[in-house]
Parts: sequence; structure tokens; C-alpha cells
Amino acid sequence: MKIACFASGSGSNVEALFEAIEAGTLHASIELIVCDQPDAAVIERAKRRGCDVFVFRAKDYPDKPSFEREIIARLEAKGVERIILAGYMRLIGEELLGRYAGRIVNIHPSLLPAFPGKDAIGQAFRGGVKITGVTIHIVDEGMDTGPIMAQEAVRITEEMTRETLQQAIQRVEHRLYPQVIEEWMKEEANV
Ligand code: GRF
Repeated sequence: MKIACFASGSGSNVEALFEAIEAGTLHASIELIVCDQPDAAVIERAKRRGCDVFVFRAKDYPDKPSFEREIIARLEAKGVERIILAGYMRLIGEELLGRYAGRIVNIHPSLLPAFPGKDAIGQAFRGGVKITGVTIHIVDEGMDTGPIMAQEAVRITEEMTRETLQQAIQRVEHRLYPQVIEEWMKEEANV
């Protein structure tokens, strides 16, 4: 299945998807990386893999519908069927939601509905909770809302720092995201 990944940052989850595809555990091809931050490390990662990247700056467009229409044109030109959000720091607007309804997934570093929004790892760490984790969900118009597909808990131990908690969460993300996407694509194919 042809997929696109949207990312704004380091792209370690995108890398994990490339690796799963290479290993033959994820049956998909990443046709395009969409990135809204011209300095993001994910751009270099994609180029190293020979994957096309569409980099844009929101401020170069009059509004969200305008840049989303351009993104849709680029996705359609490549036959993209599913969108994978991997650290894309923008709310998906009504153009993309209309065109790809129910076919956009997101990964979030907390057990939603706890700690939505930015810096979920810091929120959990500072909040003193003993358990946080990772959520993968279908995207709707809200911020980190939408039907939950999978969750996995990560325990916060006494000796953990914010950094080691982040590493533990990312290890879970990199294993879980390719697995859940693979299952999701299989289910959809059987409908
Ligand atoms: C991940 O923790 C993901 O859950 C969140 O943004 C982060 C992206 O990290 N939505 P990376 O760019 O994939 O390293």
C-alpha cells in the first residue's frame, strides 16, 4: 500500500517505518514525506533513503486550506492511500480530513486522553505519574482525539530522568507503530 508520512522533527519514527519495510514486516511503500520545517532532520533521513520530500512553510500560503490543497495534489499524484503522522506538529484541517477521512493515523507519547498536546513526555514526568506510554489513533479534527487503535504502557521508575523516559517511550513507538500500521492496512484490505 502506498503511504505518506508527515513529520516536523527528527523523524526517528519515519526511520523505524523505513526499517520495517526493509525488513519485510511492513508491506507498504513510503511515496512521500511531507514536512513543514525546512531544517528538520527528517528531510535528510528521507533523502538518504531516496524518498521524495515535500517541504513547505505555512507562512508562504494565505491559509491552511491552501497548503492542504497543495499537499493533496502531491499525494494524489503519487497515488497515496494512507497518511501516517509521525511528529507532525500541526492540526490536520478539513481539506485533508475530507479527502482522507478515516485514513490518517497519529502516534502520541502518552496514554491518551491523558497529556494531549505538546511535550506529553514532560507533562507526564513533571506530573509525577508512575505510568505513561504510547497511543496510536485515527485522526479527527481534534488535538490528539480520535478513535484509539493501540496503547502500550511505559513505567516511570524512580531513577528515570526526562531523557531516559523519552528513550523508553521511543523504543516502544519504533516497535509498535509499524506493527499497528501493518495490521490496520490488512484489516482495511479485507473490508
Ligand atoms: C514522537 O514521540 C511522537 O509520538 C510524537 O512526536 C514524536 C516524533 O519523534 N507525535 P520523531 O520525529 O519520530 O523522532
